[in-house]
Amino acid sequence: MTRSRRQRSSLSSTVVRAPGCWPLLGHIPAILNDHLGFLNSLPAYGDLVQIGIGPMRMVMACTPELTRQGLLNDATFDKGGPIFDRAREVMGNGMITCPHSAHRRQRRLVQPAFHHTRLPGYAAVMAEQITEVTGAWHDGQTIDVANEMQKIAARILLTTLYTDALPSAALSASLDDINTVVTGFAKRMFLPPILDQLPLPSNRRYQKARARLRSTISGIITRYRASGTDHGDLLSVLLTTREDSAADEATSRAEHCEPGLCLANREIQDQAITFLLAGTESTANTIAWALYLVARNPDLQQRLNTEVDSVLAGSAAAHWQLSDLQLTGRIITETLRLYPPNWLLTRVATTDTTLGAHAISAGTTLAFSPYLLHHRSNLYPAPDDFDPDRWLPQRRKTLPTCAFLPFGHGTRKCVGDTFAVAEATLALAQISAHWRLLPAVGPSSGRLVRPVLSATVKPPPLPMIAVRRYKS
Ligand code: HEM
Repeated sequence: MTRSRRQRSSLSSTVVRAPGCWPLLGHIPAILNDHLGFLNSLPAYGDLVQIGIGPMRMVMACTPELTRQGLLNDATFDKGGPIFDRAREVMGNGMITCPHSAHRRQRRLVQPAFHHTRLPGYAAVMAEQITEVTGAWHDGQTIDVANEMQKIAARILLTTLYTDALPSAALSASLDDINTVVTGFAKRMFLPPILDQLPLPSNRRYQKARARLRSTISGIITRYRASGTDHGDLLSVLLTTREDSAADEATSRAEHCEPGLCLANREIQDQAITFLLAGTESTANTIAWALYLVARNPDLQQRLNTEVDSVLAGSAAAHWQLSDLQLTGRIITETLRLYPPNWLLTRVATTDTTLGAHAISAGTTLAFSPYLLHHRSNLYPAPDDFDPDRWLPQRRKTLPTCAFLPFGHGTRKCVGDTFAVAEATLALAQISAHWRLLPAVGPSSGRLVRPVLSATVKPPPLPMIAVRRYKS
């Protein structure tokens, strides 16, 4: 039996199939036409709905409760399936792609890199990199905000990953490589692997960028190991963190770690690539969408300016706290609700089981969508409106668990969530303190632009005019 037939036959008979499913293509035409509109149409058919992506069938959870059950039970609903196979080609067995059996150990080893005590150090690097990129803008210049935020997010990750280990030419090559790999990876998620073999320039570029990024990381790991110094960056934590139980040491030896080290070189490379891919586009999109939405709301822009002027007031980042930026924080939260970067999270049932009242057979692919839940009108009144004040304590209504999940839920929840929120809040505040961004004539003025079809909820190019707020 073929894989797709096996999957089809394993789907529960109580799960309704969404209309508009074509032979062979499944719902690809609807997804290509408007993937997010398609997601939003699904709750009308039930709490679990069957959809098809090409010959692959999956079951979409349309309620917070089924999402909670699915994401919490990470042994029964494990990472796996065709989308993860594609992701593993580039991220290896890193934390996002590894199965349940390998995850606990990895998470424990990587978590210290994101400990809250490290955040002030990372925030200083973030502030520097934001200044570096925005410092090159000229008063009145039209910039593509989506592209500029991609630069900021990639520079921040590279420098927090390995401080100043990269000379500027290598940094610039790595920025290009990240861009090529992120874009190429997004396309590959929707294309059959056979197409990778075609001798196309895009395939060659992608393979070259992927190999060069790995080799850059590998070179830095070798240098760091040789110097034995803690550089206060993410890579130093990955290199120095240690196993503490005998069982873990056994795993470590089995995976060929050097004696006393907990993550082997290959594992560290996988984690570093995972951070770069998981943390660049998602955070860049969030900041870009936030700037775009603020630019379309002059009253909100004014309130934001008042807040950042009074909090930042020309002082260094060390003198104020991110929590002082209340409105800025609400804008980021609302942006993550309206445009959560991850529109689709998938899992595979490892055994015959149930989800809610539905029987689920082993091998079924389950899908969960922050975007779908964040746009349900029974959870959020006027769900398509951008309203940061819906998060004010007096207006914030009690939401069920998983009604808001831009960073996922359960043990596989994003490890970089506070890092990402800090980065997005800082970028929005710092940019707003110095620049007023006006929608340029083009797609970012007038009607709200639609996200493009990608692995994340990605904005199209967002041309905006950068006007310096204080002329020197
Ligand atoms: C706005 C920015 C971000 C968003 C919305 C986001 C979202 C997510 C989501 C939804 C997951 C769970 C995936 C799943 O359940 O299948 C995840 C996992 C993960 N994210 Fe993020 N992420 C962001 C930024 C970052 C950053 C900056 C980093 C690292 C520097 C990062 C590293 C990771 C890693 C390593 C995992 C896997 C966690 C695990 O399985 O234990 N993310 N992220």
